[in-house]
Amino acid sequence: MCGIVAYVGQQEALPIIIKGLKRLEYRGYDSAGIALLNSDGLSVYKKKGKVSELENHLNGFSNLESKIGIGHTRWATHGEPNDVNAHPHYSSSEKFAMIHNGIIENYDVLKKDLMNKGYQFQSETDSEVFIKFIEDIYVNNHISLEEAVRLALHKVVGAYAIVIMNIEEPDTLIAARKGSPLVIGVGEKEYFLASDATPIIEYTNQVVYLDDYEIAVIRDNKLQIKTIENVETNPYINQLEMELEAIEKGGYEHFMLKEINEQPRSIADCMRGRLDAKNGRLVLGGLRDYMNKFQNADRIIITACGTSWHAGLVAEYLFEEFARIPVEVEYASEFRYRNPVISEKDFVIAISQSGETADTLAAIELAKSKGATIFGVCNVVGSSIPRATHAGSYTHAGPEIGVASTKAFTAQISVLTMMALKLGYQRGTLSESRYMQLLGELETIPSKVERALKLNDKVKEIAAAYKDSRNFLYLGRGYNFPVALEGALKLKEISYIHAEGYPAAEMKHGPIALIDEEMPVVFIATKDSSYEKVVSNIQEVKARKGKIIAVVTEGDTTVKHMADHVIEIPETEEAFVPLVAVVPLQQLSYHIAVMRGCNVDQPRNLAKSVTVE
Ligand code: G6P
Repeated sequence: MCGIVAYVGQQEALPIIIKGLKRLEYRGYDSAGIALLNSDGLSVYKKKGKVSELENHLNGFSNLESKIGIGHTRWATHGEPNDVNAHPHYSSSEKFAMIHNGIIENYDVLKKDLMNKGYQFQSETDSEVFIKFIEDIYVNNHISLEEAVRLALHKVVGAYAIVIMNIEEPDTLIAARKGSPLVIGVGEKEYFLASDATPIIEYTNQVVYLDDYEIAVIRDNKLQIKTIENVETNPYINQLEMELEAIEKGGYEHFMLKEINEQPRSIADCMRGRLDAKNGRLVLGGLRDYMNKFQNADRIIITACGTSWHAGLVAEYLFEEFARIPVEVEYASEFRYRNPVISEKDFVIAISQSGETADTLAAIELAKSKGATIFGVCNVVGSSIPRATHAGSYTHAGPEIGVASTKAFTAQISVLTMMALKLGYQRGTLSESRYMQLLGELETIPSKVERALKLNDKVKEIAAAYKDSRNFLYLGRGYNFPVALEGALKLKEISYIHAEGYPAAEMKHGPIALIDEEMPVVFIATKDSSYEKVVSNIQEVKARKGKIIAVVTEGDTTVKHMADHVIEIPETEEAFVPLVAVVPLQQLSYHIAVMRGCNVDQPRNLAKSVTVE
């Protein structure tokens, strides 16, 4: 949450930073700001609202020329979204300006100390406390800003990615990170800093990922990295493989729609080079060195948040069915605080699109400290989770910009499916012939998703009929229970309609009381082992006059006669249905949100990357 961008070099900083902030808006979009340095001094401009509001605000100023600058797009933690709480924040003397992503947990104590010393505060943010704390150390110890930052970092508790400008050093940026991401783009006599690589990619593909407890100083066209213990490290330059077109809308009205439609390709990309069904080959490079541990694990623990947690629930069914190893799926935020029983015999899988979710990272650290093996399933290459885990597999879905996750979800399930099949085969719980059959079917999934996408017009008609509903229920059983949860989450995230996902049979234990002629109920009722039971559940809803929207297998005739609307998806193996069935549910929530005039890509109050707990 919060996106930060900074630039120093030969070009004008303002357009680079504004463009970069727009690319990072998915991380937070309640206010934005920028600091520039020129003959007028160090000037901060900030505005409540999106980056476009900041741009309008800047139109009222002249002399915005600057070859250095820092910018921020905020997701409020401390203090409501308004102009004052927006970043950058000045130090008291206004000699320094800072942008910050993260949370300083001991800001209250630091603030009281500073207030006792006479410091005054304009905002309610922890970030203003942070820069004033740095300034206090700087002033009292007569040391360089760099040294003051280093000493301050020893005293602050929490997470941060910061970049600081100093009026007295017009060619210098000082940055540091712990727990929040920071990427440094290395150009020709210029440097770009950002929360992820998307603002950087069009200028350079050479990047350095700053590590926790590192401080970067860019001065006079040189990058120097030191630890907070003052030990110089050698920056390792990575080559970015991201394409610029992957982060643009490519003719679609919204990123979410583009990403929904990219799924046949993203699932295929995820399987490419890994799955060769004809020859019975399934290779997950990241698993190779840990296959022994995986195969002999007493238990698999899956930890994640949000949509990634739903992918984990699908994986629970997959691993237990194919590999016969007990699985627990844990919300990372609960797992990290409840003193769970973990041992070296546990294999922990952490799933995360961004690779930056604070709770998932903390859950990983906890499990690691107890000796478990940690495997990451992440989308963003080079992010924190892949670097904190023992091994992992990337999902290769490409950048996902829409805040509501779509293609990352199906790519996560694709990786987890391959892991489960591989594990089952190696453990002998899956016979050779069944394994071969499943591999063959898995290879057809991209084309089945392609066919499912063609249901768009039908789904749009259904969306038009129910766009004004106040509540929705989503019901499914077995593999389709997590799909019901995900369908409900998609709808509430982007359309602000209250929606609940439930295991279909649980309906009788509460939600059935909600059903009347006003209540649309989405059933995922594909032909699988619990089909007959789900059909009975549909009857129960029908008897209470609920409106039934059913996702069924192509050619189904039974449900057609009961439901108000059916969406027929291609038939596949029961275990692979989530990959296809979720597609019309993504489309349904998308169309409803558009029809309700909601901001689909940047829904209110949400952020894509939740780097605070
Ligand atoms: C946020 C996003 C969700 C995402 C969740 C977990 O809430 O809005 O789309 O599923 O975080 O994020 P991760 O990056 O760890 O998958």
